[in-house]
Amino acid sequence: MTSADDGTMEGLAVTSCERCPELVESRSQIVNGTGPEDANLVFLGEAPGANEDDQGEPFVGRSGSVLDEALRDAGLARADVRITNCVRCRPPENRNPTSAELANCRGYLQRELALIDPELVVTLGKVPSEHLLDRSVAVTKEAGDVVDVRLGERSYRAVVSVHPAATLYDGSQRETFFETIAHAADLAGVATDGSGQSSLGDF
Ligand code: URA
Repeated sequence: MTSADDGTMEGLAVTSCERCPELVESRSQIVNGTGPEDANLVFLGEAPGANEDDQGEPFVGRSGSVLDEALRDAGLARADVRITNCVRCRPPENRNPTSAELANCRGYLQRELALIDPELVVTLGKVPSEHLLDRSVAVTKEAGDVVDVRLGERSYRAVVSVHPAATLYDGSQRETFFETIAHAADLAGVATDGSGQSSLGDF
């Protein structure tokens, strides 16, 4: 158990935190990452929305369905990858997290990634891309780019992606998104037959 200021983590999960007064007000629960604790591939979103806040799991709404579809297309199942967010509590009215809220949650992400030690992190959309790359990012232009990022003492390889929700508003982003996820699966060396069983199981 790790206690940092007014927040507590047990393993990869934040079990209590009161750092962001507006988020404490708007959340019904803390939404932690899901998936293997030794995943090679981590997907990083922005913050939980209404569905995630309700179910306590990241990417379970419409964006999550697009992500699931792209994972399947890339030969992966959700159970093969870790999915987490920059901020673990739902912002009011689904607004973007503030820079103070991102900073308050950064240490939790830092610890989660350090314990997982993934091959690759995919940043889903502008907020997670800018949070991890620590610069402004034109996600549509930079989608698929591989970059080295630093979080705390550690470096990670990351791939920039558009947010899956962008494919719902702009059909032209769909191909970009699906191609980026397939590229990421390839880079991380985790492609399976999509059944959740590693193809190594065939041998
Ligand atoms: N969008 C995100 O960025 N994260 C979620 O968990 C759901 C939607």
